[in-house]
Amino acid sequence: MRTIDWIDGGIELIDQTLLPHRLEQRRVTELTDLISDIQRLAVRGAPALGVAGAMGVALIAANVAAADTSGDAAAARAEVVRQSLLLREARPTAVNLSWGVDRALTRLDEGAAAILDEALAIRDEDIAACISMGLRGADLTRELTGKDPVRVMTICNTGGLATVERGTALGVIQTLLEQGSLAEAFPLETRPLLQGVRLTAWELQRMGAPFRLLIDSAGPFLLSRGIADAVFIGADRIAANGDSANKIGSFSLALAAKHAGVPFIVVAPESTVDMATASGSDIEIEDRGVAEVAGFGGVRTAPEGIEAVNPAFDVTPYELITAIVTERRVIRPGTGETLATVPLEPLRS
Ligand code: MRU
Repeated sequence: MRTIDWIDGGIELIDQTLLPHRLEQRRVTELTDLISDIQRLAVRGAPALGVAGAMGVALIAANVAAADTSGDAAAARAEVVRQSLLLREARPTAVNLSWGVDRALTRLDEGAAAILDEALAIRDEDIAACISMGLRGADLTRELTGKDPVRVMTICNTGGLATVERGTALGVIQTLLEQGSLAEAFPLETRPLLQGVRLTAWELQRMGAPFRLLIDSAGPFLLSRGIADAVFIGADRIAANGDSANKIGSFSLALAAKHAGVPFIVVAPESTVDMATASGSDIEIEDRGVAEVAGFGGVRTAPEGIEAVNPAFDVTPYELITAIVTERRVIRPGTGETLATVPLEPLRS
């Protein structure tokens, strides 16, 4: 089952808020439902949001065409653009969402069928990119650590649930497992919405990987005690200077990895690279408000009347990153390489 797909004229997506207790697909045919599903994290993870953005534009175009009785093509196009902008702004940090919307809109003048073609191409490219990232990342991990098998730490969910299939950083872990090179994985719980506990642990268990869960605050300390040979994270936006936004807690892991002398590897598709954003300080960080911090699963844990600062993401500076792995290249900050200087290579498969 794919995390998100286009079936019979609508979007079908796994409702990730129900996992790990229930594996259910939701059918989405209205823009308002898609925006709500993105905002409540029923569909989440940067590459999956890119596909959701593109398929969302296909949905909008089909709905606008079906409702149009005037035959006014210019007005219909303007309406598709207006609704697409609402979708584009559903969540701010992962550049893939706006990238997916914008790429689908490049086919606007060709009509709804062409927009859907573009969305399906993005879906297929995401599947191929995850395979390529896994192979590049697994080779790099053995090279950088000098270990085989390796022990790896990760945060949030960067698996099949964050993409169409397989994943980015968790896709590297799956590739290591398939190649007999995974000793053990250490996923962090990922406060406050527990993507690590609910989603990554579920995926690791399904793939048959050896793993033990860690609470977020144990990660940096256990790196200093040598529990892992490498840290892998995904990214929501990689700025032109290489600064990388990812789930809150990633920056602390990068600092600790540096202290422990452990490679810190960012794994993300080229669609997450945003050359229009100069540096990490220009990345908008979503704040998800007090409710997610003050309780969980409908149970209040904090006293009434409190406030909270709840950034969903942080930014790891380029100099703390050992390597950025995409489907088309590996960039190594320590050798002076940058996103602007390292050329794209063919996909691996
Ligand atoms: O708030 P989320 O669950 O959408 O955050 C997701 C992450 O931070 C992922 O690490 C990132 O999107 C990369 S997913 C391959």
